[in-house]
Amino acid sequence: MRVVHTKQQLRKALKELRSAGGSVGLVPTMGYLHEGHISLIRRARQENDVVVVSVFVNPAQFGPNEDLNAYPRDTQGDLKLMQGEKTDLAFLPRAEELYPDGYATYVELNGRMTQVLCGVSRPGHFRGVATVVTKLFNIVSPDRAYFGQKDAQQVSVIKKMVRDLDFNITIVACPTVREADGLAMSSRNSYLTAAQRAQAPVIARALFEARDRITAGERCSASLVDLIKERITTIDNATLDYVSIIDADDMSDIETIIGPTLIAVAVKLGRTRLIDNIRIEV
Ligand code: PAJ
Repeated sequence: MRVVHTKQQLRKALKELRSAGGSVGLVPTMGYLHEGHISLIRRARQENDVVVVSVFVNPAQFGPNEDLNAYPRDTQGDLKLMQGEKTDLAFLPRAEELYPDGYATYVELNGRMTQVLCGVSRPGHFRGVATVVTKLFNIVSPDRAYFGQKDAQQVSVIKKMVRDLDFNITIVACPTVREADGLAMSSRNSYLTAAQRAQAPVIARALFEARDRITAGERCSASLVDLIKERITTIDNATLDYVSIIDADDMSDIETIIGPTLIAVAVKLGRTRLIDNIRIEV
């Protein structure tokens, strides 16, 4: 595995790797890698000749009162895991490499997709994500890029951006990897106290319960939202950000469940914001 820190090093290394022909898969991450990230790297490894993993805690996608400085980091641990999955190239740029002094260009999606769910509570977040992902796409020029369904809205935003900006890149969405008790894996789970960690699986269990109700015939979104809210209020010091039942494709609100549906939740446990979702095909 080659570890590179600059765009120039990356382009040079990629040129050599590409000279043999074959496809390139990119897995963008913010590091502190866990099994969720690993599942994306494995999928990229299966489907491509060259695998590039980026680790960059992207300042542009954090709000002024968010956890940019506290965000967990473990470069040595990440490199070990990437190496274990036969990553060809690890790209670990410094902030100045991607956002030099005077940096001024941002990618912004208008419309409902960035104005609902996390777009409401994290203004500017998807602008930061779209900007850094565009930059990574331009630097790496991958054939495929891998994203987790855990961040369902992020996947929709990236797919839309790829269509709108004519990127010739296939976006591969991978299933959410969970802990044994259901909690969706996340680098931010490391913030949880033991007591919060013990209660956190309530979120996933509420989503599974809603899914079971739908399987049993429930079609009314409002009653499912009530059910999930009720379960989440049992968690100590939990503040609900949103519970949304939306069309899985265009993210419009759904009153009666008739097609592919996304149930998405964001909850703060103390100061830690957790998100989870479940996709239901009826
Ligand atoms: P990060 O939170 O590090 O996640 C990197 C990728 O791993 C994302 O595509 C995310 O959806 C996926 N992922 C995280 N937890 C997962 C889980 N439990 N199961 C499956 N996939 C999971 O998402 C970001 O970083 C950033 O916004 C980024 C796209 C890198 C842009 O900065």
